[in-house]
Amino acid sequence: MGWLRGSSLCDLDGLSAAAIDEILDTAESMAEILGRPIPRVPALRGRTVLLLFYEASTRTRHSFELACKVLGADSLSLAASTSSVVKGESLLDTVRTAVAMGADALVLRHPCSGAAAQAAAWAGIPVVNAGDGTHAHPTQGLLDLLAVRRLRGVLSGLRLAVVGDVLHSRVARSAASAFARCGAEVTLSGPPTLLPPEAGPALGARVCHDLEGALRGADVVMALRLQRERQDDGLLPSLAEYRARWGIDRARWERLCPGAVLLHPGPVNRGVELHPEMLDLPRSAVEEQVRAGVAVRMAVLYHLLNGGAGG
Ligand code: CP
Repeated sequence: MGWLRGSSLCDLDGLSAAAIDEILDTAESMAEILGRPIPRVPALRGRTVLLLFYEASTRTRHSFELACKVLGADSLSLAASTSSVVKGESLLDTVRTAVAMGADALVLRHPCSGAAAQAAAWAGIPVVNAGDGTHAHPTQGLLDLLAVRRLRGVLSGLRLAVVGDVLHSRVARSAASAFARCGAEVTLSGPPTLLPPEAGPALGARVCHDLEGALRGADVVMALRLQRERQDDGLLPSLAEYRARWGIDRARWERLCPGAVLLHPGPVNRGVELHPEMLDLPRSAVEEQVRAGVAVRMAVLYHLLNGGAGG
């Protein structure tokens, strides 16, 4: 994995199944560190990671912070809403400021697709995309793979159904293409207004506008958050209709895919895409995803900033 050293992770497109597998193996080594009584190692001591978030985040931002702490790196958090971005400072000047402060890597969340690649071109230091517009969320895709690999042992041959607001979902794009590359059979499902026809071929996935057809026989179901903050185009008749047609409840689950693993990237709109009881099912892997997220982000930072084998 030495080839990752000094590079940026803006999406998962350039990673082969074997490279993804290696990152997941490193993440397992990182999970072993997290399980120690004192989960601290000096692997990245002396390194500084700047977390630059132009959008809200709980899981991604704080798991990167924790990953830095465990590996001995310093992290600086810069929320756009409390920074000079509110005075009109550009992304270019914000990135230059971060580099001038001595940051060794930048973790960026931004509402515009392509912002991470642009920042990487400007920065000259590794940039990790923590979600850019509707484009990609590569560490989310990796943690989804890790959580499923842990629970099912393999990825190849699994039937994955990704359900809901695909249109606005960078999570769906990163996960669907990565699962397909790792040999899973991926189906995208959602109302036609939230599932662009080109999404299937672009991501190596089948498209199914019928929820029951997508869930039937699935090994893994990824329910997507309905991104209500991005629904200003009137794409849905009403929330109640969406819930009735696309919400997943226990009765549907037991009838169509009782043995499936349930994923959701979070945060969940309880009672919209998922009935609240779904989160308490033994098959819910939502908290396993969060745990996997810390290990994956440790692995990614380690490979970009150090480059050796994990552990
Ligand atoms: N899944 C995810 O990106 O969650 P946050 O927005 O809380 O980081």
